Amino acid sequence: MSIKIGTADLRHGLFLAPMAGVSDRTFRLLCREWGAEYLVSEMVSAKALCYEQKGKRKESATLGTAPLAAITEGEAPMAVQIFGREPSFMAEAARLLQSGEYRGCTSAVPPVAIDINMGCPVRKVTGNGEGSALMKNPKLIGQIVSEVVRATSLPVTVKIRAGWDASSVNAPEVAKIAEQAGASLVCVHARTREQLYAPGIDLGVIEAVKRAVGIPVIGNGDVNSAESAIRMMRETGCDGVMIGRGAMGNPWIFRQIAAALEGNSYEAPALPERMETAKRHLDGMIAHKGARVGLAEAKKHMAWYVAGVHGAAAARSAIMNAQSAEEIRTILSDLAQRNEG
Ligand SMILES: Cc1cc2nc3c(=O)[nH]c(=O)nc-3n(C[C@H](O)[C@H](O)[C@H](O)COP(=O)(O)O)c2cc1C
Repeated sequence: MSIKIGTADLRHGLFLAPMAGVSDRTFRLLCREWGAEYLVSEMVSAKALCYEQKGKRKESATLGTAPLAAITEGEAPMAVQIFGREPSFMAEAARLLQSGEYRGCTSAVPPVAIDINMGCPVRKVTGNGEGSALMKNPKLIGQIVSEVVRATSLPVTVKIRAGWDASSVNAPEVAKIAEQAGASLVCVHARTREQLYAPGIDLGVIEAVKRAVGIPVIGNGDVNSAESAIRMMRETGCDGVMIGRGAMGNPWIFRQIAAALEGNSYEAPALPERMETAKRHLDGMIAHKGARVGLAEAKKHMAWYVAGVHGAAAARSAIMNAQSAEEIRTILSDLAQRNEG
């Protein structure tokens, strides 16, 4: 089984989830190295991107939105995800992203697709009728998708939830509307907005979406092992899986799933290699975001890498209090050494 999306040909359908504040360039590249076939940017505000072009936001804000959409050579195939509510802004953002000609753009590599966010549960977003609030307005979803499809020759994909709440599970209906409006792929996070990220997903929703549409369907939610990925594919018939939290501090999950799908076994790297990967992650974030921001933002990732290791609690607290990257490197090396001995 393989999935074709635009210029991308994906053997297993292994997607890294968009995660604002987490799936930045450094993390995406590491996940790619460990087998993520398809990457998606952190969500980008369509309106903010458009306003930057008109100079309606101050220059420092320009540095805030456009760089989120930047794609480097090693990241392709990568989609850029936009969020918003007004079809005109969504369409304009898609046009800008495809052209690569906009203020603040540092990307020479075009997105493989434009993804539309219909799943974000954050109140600041849903309060504007954006993200998962769109699930309450299927008609508007149709309008947004068709205008974005008209504005770009890139494939347009949608990322939806099961529905808004338990009484309004409408993912199959929404997926069909998106397909009729020209969407090329749908990813379903099998939880309602009401459920936020509470444990437990409804595989039946993914299966129902798969039955409702002819375009590829990617399942999402709680995939944190090769077993859970294979179970999702087998029980729902979905064409691929998208992994978010299961890849945090654990980018080799993609290789584990690929190996299992090929009938091979694959052991996660031993602790020393995991800690070396964490250090490369730290270095990448500092190189990309600067010493201060890079260090601050890397700490949560470092804590994820040490999770489950003997001595993790003390290491995590030392990481959070560290004043320099060097200090964190030493903590990681010591942890690896202590567990080896
Ligand atoms: C920290 C964080 C940030 C997220 N940001 C986004 C985002 O920008 N766009 C989006 O569509 N989903 C976002 N999500 C949702 C994930 O893409 C995914 O749908 C969700 O985490 C369920 O998958 P998982 O169980 O594999 O983590 C985010 C999730 C987390 C935990």
